[in-house]
Amino acid sequence: MQNGDHGPTGLTHAATSTRLIVAANRGPAQFYQRADGKFVARQASGGLATAFVSLAAGSDLSWIAVAGTEVERRAFEEKPHRVVRIGPARVDTRYVAVPDRIYKLYYDDISNSTLWFAQHYLFHPDLSPDFGLAERQAWHEGYVTVNRMVADAIVAEIQGLTPAEQAQAVVMIQDYQLYLVPGMLREALPGVTQSHFVHIPWPALRYWQMLPQEIYGQIIASMLANNVVGLQTMQDVKNFLACVAEVQPQATITSADDANYITWHGHRLLVKAYPIGINADHIRTLAHSRAAKSGFAGIARYFADRQTILRVDRLEPTKNIIRGLEAFETLLEQHAELRGKVRFVMMLVPSREGVRRYRDYARRVNKLVQKINAKYGTPDDPAVVHVAGNDQARALAAMRVCDVLLVNSVIDGMHLGAKEAAVVNEKQGVLVISRTAGVYQQLGDGAALGVSPLDVQATADALYHALTLPQAERAALAEEACHRVEDHDVFAWLEDQLVDARHMAKWPARHRPAAPTPAPVVAGSQPDAPAHVTSASG
Ligand code: G6P
Repeated sequence: MQNGDHGPTGLTHAATSTRLIVAANRGPAQFYQRADGKFVARQASGGLATAFVSLAAGSDLSWIAVAGTEVERRAFEEKPHRVVRIGPARVDTRYVAVPDRIYKLYYDDISNSTLWFAQHYLFHPDLSPDFGLAERQAWHEGYVTVNRMVADAIVAEIQGLTPAEQAQAVVMIQDYQLYLVPGMLREALPGVTQSHFVHIPWPALRYWQMLPQEIYGQIIASMLANNVVGLQTMQDVKNFLACVAEVQPQATITSADDANYITWHGHRLLVKAYPIGINADHIRTLAHSRAAKSGFAGIARYFADRQTILRVDRLEPTKNIIRGLEAFETLLEQHAELRGKVRFVMMLVPSREGVRRYRDYARRVNKLVQKINAKYGTPDDPAVVHVAGNDQARALAAMRVCDVLLVNSVIDGMHLGAKEAAVVNEKQGVLVISRTAGVYQQLGDGAALGVSPLDVQATADALYHALTLPQAERAALAEEACHRVEDHDVFAWLEDQLVDARHMAKWPARHRPAAPTPAPVVAGSQPDAPAHVTSASG
């Protein structure tokens, strides 16, 4: 936290006096249609919605999202602007209703098959993907179109505010699905205050360079139209700055401590790491809720009779679920004394089933579970249990009683599940985390055991170590992890960005000559001069 004067939500006056407009692919609620045709909203799970909604309890909040289901499309075509009440909060929502075909191009083809894989280093560059006309069409017809619709919806939202509200407005854009929104918004409303937080890793320049130049060029140019660009870790920040230096050589980058300022076409922005946190009180309450108890009742037997290694993830390739299973198999192979004494419970949320690589990966996961169980378990007493479904309360209940939490992601922006386990676990459970996950970079040694994600043997060794650590050492790790998570919660994350965005907004109003229209990079063009990078202290 940067300022004092904290209100009941844990946020300062600087934050609660802001007229906040959130733009994200997903909204704060999911919409359902009742038999009588009426649309009803239920709060979406997840830390982001909880954090922003806590803020809305103290002030007004608007949320622009993309309708992801047929029901949501119908709901917002019927009425483009809906007020959703979540607890004491009142959230003005606009979900952009996108035709199904366009949505698939935007969500499946570009956001999840291209950008998600690029940013998690998951291409197989020897063979795939290919970028041809179809992919360029997906970019223009899908991604650019949906970003344009979201930007237009934000403009409409801002124009509907009173002048006093407009003066206090900050637009907080979330993640990789909406990279082009900042540039479009700045063009329409040159004085807008906007920040963009990227929840996933920002890869090295050379990995971006595998994509068509006009695509990453447009992304970078648009991101520079923000007042603040937030990334999860310092490594992400360094990578982002290296991309800017290459793609926009006219940009001037000045670094001081952990803040980096870019001046570009007379516009100045801040680039900084804001590692995302959780709302520990909310998570603890949910972990002890009736929903958690009843959800957990169905799986309690898997935790009752032996030590448990748990993983809680979306079922997807970046999570490295197959190598996690291989590490568990190796553990049982090499430590016969653990057979029948330790179980691996994987709580996996089905994800992006419209993307072929996800479906193939899920099939491989299930096959490997069967193989390990045939070797080391029986139908009544499986060594590995795959609990499928999206039930956050049940997962938190399981985190309370696991002995080890495995987070061996190939690479991960943060991994909030690891933070949740750190605050709810009651057994001095040990966190085994990939060194390439943001959460490991933030919590670090002394709070978790680090593993390299491809190193199956070292992961098996770390699991063994975690299961056999003396109680005092487990307790020291668990206490440190909990302390470090609580020390920087989701309110601090939100607050820091809001304070910085409002601070940065004061600068360009005097200095910006005109709206800096992001110039698309023309394929084949060469940078004309190296970027100017300086360092300043203090
Ligand atoms: C994870 C990432 C987020 C991302 C989300 C998208 O939670 O951490 O950065 O926005 O996945 O998931 P979805 O299910 O909406 O495609």
